[in-house]
Amino acid sequence: MSTFWIGTGWKMNKTVAETRRYIADLKARLPDDAGADYALFIIPPFTALAAAREAIGMAPVLLGAQNMHWADAGAYTGEISAVMLKEFDIDLVELGHSERREHFGETDATINLKVKAALRHGFRPLLCVGDSAEERAAGASGAAVVRQVKLAFAGLTKSEISRCLVAYEPIWAIGEGGVPASPEEARPVHVALHVALKELGAPSVPVLYGGSVNLDNAAALAGEQAIDGLFVGRAAWSADGFAALISRVMAARKAATSTPAKAMPAIG
Ligand code: PGA
Repeated sequence: MSTFWIGTGWKMNKTVAETRRYIADLKARLPDDAGADYALFIIPPFTALAAAREAIGMAPVLLGAQNMHWADAGAYTGEISAVMLKEFDIDLVELGHSERREHFGETDATINLKVKAALRHGFRPLLCVGDSAEERAAGASGAAVVRQVKLAFAGLTKSEISRCLVAYEPIWAIGEGGVPASPEEARPVHVALHVALKELGAPSVPVLYGGSVNLDNAAALAGEQAIDGLFVGRAAWSADGFAALISRVMAARKAATSTPAKAMPAIG
């Protein structure tokens, strides 16, 4: 079984105390075999990274940051650099989330600079791409996200791109009022992303799905061949919720691999 990714980004939520409690609760609830075949990650706010790193200890949970600047240091009031994040021993850095693009003016060009800086400092970029409701209505979802991926990875070598993760996060699916993509709707977009990544020489880059993932739809989404992981917001903001979601996906994937494939009907 190839590695399946399950992670949660907390957005602007959780204090240091809440982070400690969440991770302690999560560790107590993680299935025993969660480390094998699964890559689990949490992405707290910057202020909770130190506490999170300490609380994770030896648990099989990767740690990520929600953003970073592309420069190592400088006159960028309010920003955080990769050099600073290095001290927290983070594994991942989430870049290009649609909330960053919408509210903080992030562009494909600045995201490209950030991806390069993250790789330079040894972090694994988690590049988020997403289509708008208008692009979806026009049947342009695949084209929109492929464009974002190509611009974010412009100028990178194949081996650099291979160190990244991509998350397909339809803008219309994210957050309160978002409608989760059905597996059928997510499938062609994931396939388009895999084709583009192959063209870029990095066919092994995992493509995660995010946007209103919950306990009811996680197993079906995870059952899609072109979906290599789930990136979860609200449904995983309680340790209980995240642990339940992980268990649900693990059980579904285990059942799928232990059921013998249906015999192909004879042709003719
Ligand atoms: P959501 O958030 O699961 O709460 O919709 C997803 C995201 O923004 O990554």
